[in-house]
Amino acid sequence: MNDNQISNMNTNDDTDYTPSLGQGAAHSKIILMGEHAVVYGVPAIAMPFKVASVSVKITPSKTNRSRLESDYYSGPISLMPDHMANLKRVIELMLDSFNLPEQALYYHIESNIPIGRGMGSSAAVSVAIARAIADFYDVDLSDYQLQLIVNQGEVIAHESTSGLDTLMSSTNDPVMYQKSEQPVPFSLNLKAFLILADSGIEGQTKKAVASVRQLLEERPKFVKEALNSIERFVKLGYQAILNKDVNELGRLLTYNHYYLNQLGVSHPTLDRIIQAAWYAGALGAKLTGGGLGGCAIALAETAKDAELIAEAMEIAGAKQTWILNLESE
Ligand code: PMV
Repeated sequence: MNDNQISNMNTNDDTDYTPSLGQGAAHSKIILMGEHAVVYGVPAIAMPFKVASVSVKITPSKTNRSRLESDYYSGPISLMPDHMANLKRVIELMLDSFNLPEQALYYHIESNIPIGRGMGSSAAVSVAIARAIADFYDVDLSDYQLQLIVNQGEVIAHESTSGLDTLMSSTNDPVMYQKSEQPVPFSLNLKAFLILADSGIEGQTKKAVASVRQLLEERPKFVKEALNSIERFVKLGYQAILNKDVNELGRLLTYNHYYLNQLGVSHPTLDRIIQAAWYAGALGAKLTGGGLGGCAIALAETAKDAELIAEAMEIAGAKQTWILNLESE
């Protein structure tokens, strides 16, 4: 850390400009296939989305209380609102697990990951905080310890979590992921473009996960069949990626969306955006992440198609779109 970096830090009175500093970062993710089903042990395919990322800086606090500053909350950690309880838990677990001395710290969070859009914002912030604490106290934090600690926070955020968000915010490769299994990294390298479209509607992962669980209790046969179908599509989707068959992958994305819709986790605006992508020539499109709002993805064969599809998705209601060249992923 050089003087320039230190002087670039937040100038809140609470900070103490000593070279004692901890830094941590993490990024967002896109689930290509398998969300929700992954909570029940079905594999999912996901990729990092590094355009959206978070960084955390920690310095000693000038007051005797630990404080956090972010776009969504600024104040003592002890008074953080309930929806940030996962971050509090991660901080406690980091300090307890590594037997770190009680010390009032100042946490400064900078993130451009939209919250509640199925992009894994809560897990990414937790990962960045855990890494910053490890850096501040100079402790070795293994990937395994990181996942374990952050997942405990995620359980508070989502109730039941597959662990996929935590993994993806701290990993650099696309992966085939199955709960309790070693993730399988792979490279996409497809002649295709992925459009990510933000519906502008806050997704509700916790509510969506709970509603699928309730549906499973009420209509077990129906939900199990949907989960089995999604599992088949995910496995075929992975094969299509390995075979570089983008047409097949697109079809499977669309089939996957059909079943997410059946499980009740889509949203009329998301459906409209997805339909617009299909009509504009997408090879396939679906919601991504927890749903009930949040984001949709669409697959396009060429850059020009991708632009037209992104435009169509915006006309249908998307507030923001991103285009990713999958040849470089
Ligand atoms: O909405 P997100 O980005 O938190 O994604 C949630 C993915 C789910 O499969 C719905 C839940 C999980 O824990 O895997």
